[in-house]
Amino acid sequence: MAFPTETVYGLGARADRPEAVAKIFLAKNRPTFDPLIAHFASSETAQDWARFDERALALARAFWPGPLTIVLPRLHRDDQPRIPDLVTSGLDTVGVRVPDQPIALRLLESLDFPVAAPSANPFGYVSPTTAEHVRQGLGKRVDLILDGGPCAVGVESTIVDLSGPKPRLLRPGGLSREALESLLGPLPWDGFQSPVRTEAPGMLESHYSPGIPVEVFEDPKRLRERARQIQGLCAVVTPRPLSDIPCREIISLGEGTAMAVTLFSTLRHLDDPAHGRILALLPSPEGLGLAVRDRLFRAARSRLG
Ligand code: TXA
Ligand code: MG
Repeated sequence: MAFPTETVYGLGARADRPEAVAKIFLAKNRPTFDPLIAHFASSETAQDWARFDERALALARAFWPGPLTIVLPRLHRDDQPRIPDLVTSGLDTVGVRVPDQPIALRLLESLDFPVAAPSANPFGYVSPTTAEHVRQGLGKRVDLILDGGPCAVGVESTIVDLSGPKPRLLRPGGLSREALESLLGPLPWDGFQSPVRTEAPGMLESHYSPGIPVEVFEDPKRLRERARQIQGLCAVVTPRPLSDIPCREIISLGEGTAMAVTLFSTLRHLDDPAHGRILALLPSPEGLGLAVRDRLFRAARSRLG
């Protein structure tokens, strides 16, 4: 069943049943080497399934419920891992998260098992931030969609790996890196410096990509030149308003947390063959700008293979 979270809609199944989890991979067309996040109603219940150290407890106190996933060692019972291999891709760690969304929390509180859930979109496409996006993408492949309205955060959770001695940022997301660093110290993120061409298109990480090509720009002047070069056959997405850009449609996402909220619905809206391509101006990497940059780079990268 699909359900709302504060980040994006998730496609959930009981995390302790491989036969249920298998249906998620089928519905999404998702490769099984990509592990799923286990969702819990509280950090107390999560502690029965994953091993929390002092750092993890401090993060849970500060940021849960909220857009943060913590990768921790999974716990065993009777020599069996409580979270099965299909959820963790065979890793001995599990990503755990307590979402900050009333419907999600009520659902999780009513169950005595965690819910494994990736974003509720076909593998590789833009993540859904409304129930309608889920219906468009997965339709009959899901039994039920709980509609909680548009997601409040709009990009996926930030993922931090605490399974080793040194914390590692695995994915920038809805909780800012600065907030995490206030408790964990510096968390380097090299991310994508530029869209990368790949030798092996089949190996491409085609994530977050609309159907039409996406090109990303650091400098508004370069974006304007490109728009002129292609005679305005493009749509433009930008954090702040830009003037004098020839294009068919331009959408300004806004600053701060606002730009994440509408990012995915904007990419979906602009994903129209009549627009030709999407030109995106990258926000600066502060706050949620880091996650927005990451998603735009991925959307662009997957088109360069
Ligand atoms: O906001 C979110 O996190 C949403 C909502 C539904 O909670 N979920 C989400 O799931 O974005 P998904 O499947 O699209 O992304 C999960 C990612 C995996 O691709 C992987 O990179 C990472 O989480 N992950 C999960 N378990 C992991 C583990 N044990 N070790 C390392 N990375 C893990
Ligand atoms: Mg996803």
